[in-house]
Amino acid sequence: MKAFLLACALSFSASAQTVKIGVVNTFTGPAAAFGEMTDRAFKLYQKLHEKDLPAGVKLELLTRDDGGPNPDKARQLAQELVVRDRVQLLAGVAFTPNAMAMAPLATEARVPLILTNAGTSVVTTRSPYIARFSFTLWQSCVPLGEWAAKKFKRAYTLVADYAPGTDAEAAFGQGYKAGGGEVIGAVRVPVQNPDLAPYMQRVKDAKPDALMVFVPAGKMSTAVMKTFADLGLGAAGIKLIGPGDITTDEELPNMGDVALGVTTVFHYSAAAERPANKRFVEAWKKEYGASSTPNFAAAAAWDAMAAIFHVVREQKGKIDPDRTMELLKAYKNPDSPRGPIAIDPETRDIVQNEYLREVRKVNGQLANVELETVATAVKDPWKEMQKKK
Ligand code: PHB
Repeated sequence: MKAFLLACALSFSASAQTVKIGVVNTFTGPAAAFGEMTDRAFKLYQKLHEKDLPAGVKLELLTRDDGGPNPDKARQLAQELVVRDRVQLLAGVAFTPNAMAMAPLATEARVPLILTNAGTSVVTTRSPYIARFSFTLWQSCVPLGEWAAKKFKRAYTLVADYAPGTDAEAAFGQGYKAGGGEVIGAVRVPVQNPDLAPYMQRVKDAKPDALMVFVPAGKMSTAVMKTFADLGLGAAGIKLIGPGDITTDEELPNMGDVALGVTTVFHYSAAAERPANKRFVEAWKKEYGASSTPNFAAAAAWDAMAAIFHVVREQKGKIDPDRTMELLKAYKNPDSPRGPIAIDPETRDIVQNEYLREVRKVNGQLANVELETVATAVKDPWKEMQKKK
């Protein structure tokens, strides 16, 4: 009997295949929602789609906390995951500096890195083993600038002083100026826990028609809302606009009514009426409770896990890095919660729609209500520009 069991165990382990995925994300600090949202989306997708994996194939997630924008920490965690734990895929990464620090490792170790956030355009150019399932700031901020130019003559910009912030500032400026708007001032604030009041006061004194803000989504977005209201910028007639990071879905209840009327351009809203999104949000609330709402990081992680399932299925659980990248480059999903998505085979970056949204009350709850699709199948505009240079 013992020998029989042993034989069974041996033959099982010979046929069973575990794909190890190293997840690096932010689980602590003001942007901790990134870790939680990503983790919940990964787990929910796995739970609902387990039967779609080839027989005997399992996924194992090894999850690590980088604590925020800490490139050295992210590099060290990724290195341990690759060298010691022998992960076959890397995934996650909220912050651009962390993704930049992990890129050389993905190349040297030939481990595909599937990004679920990190939105600075240049990131994907740092390794042929990166594919991005999130967004770029250029994708949202060019159409935001074009839209704003039709409504407001003079705008001010306020961004977090690091790569995605300077991308947002440049992209908004490009769209806004092309549409005839004038940027009358630009200010950059520290990435970590800035005192926003002096910067906001400077903006108020300049009397722009609109203020475009990018800060990392999470507690920082709520701080922006509060300071904007406390210093009376809204009451002074200044309109707050930005990419959707500043009205991230999960923080709306903490922001309160000061967020009402804030207009953003983004690729994902939990309030979107698309059937695929309704199914996603319903499944989420069933799993995590009615008071939990998936944000854009959850949507990106959901799509990324669908793509991971695809590459695992196609290779029957035996991950070859180059074949994986070929599969990711050809990846398409016409029916993601955010609408149709694809990976651009040339750049390995996400192609998606951008929606104009306004914070409104829906059934008594604040929501990013999608008003119109302002751009369809958008490739990263920064990369398109580089090609023409
Ligand atoms: C980034 O560091 O790339 C980043 C972080 C938070 C965001 C967007 C982009 O909300």
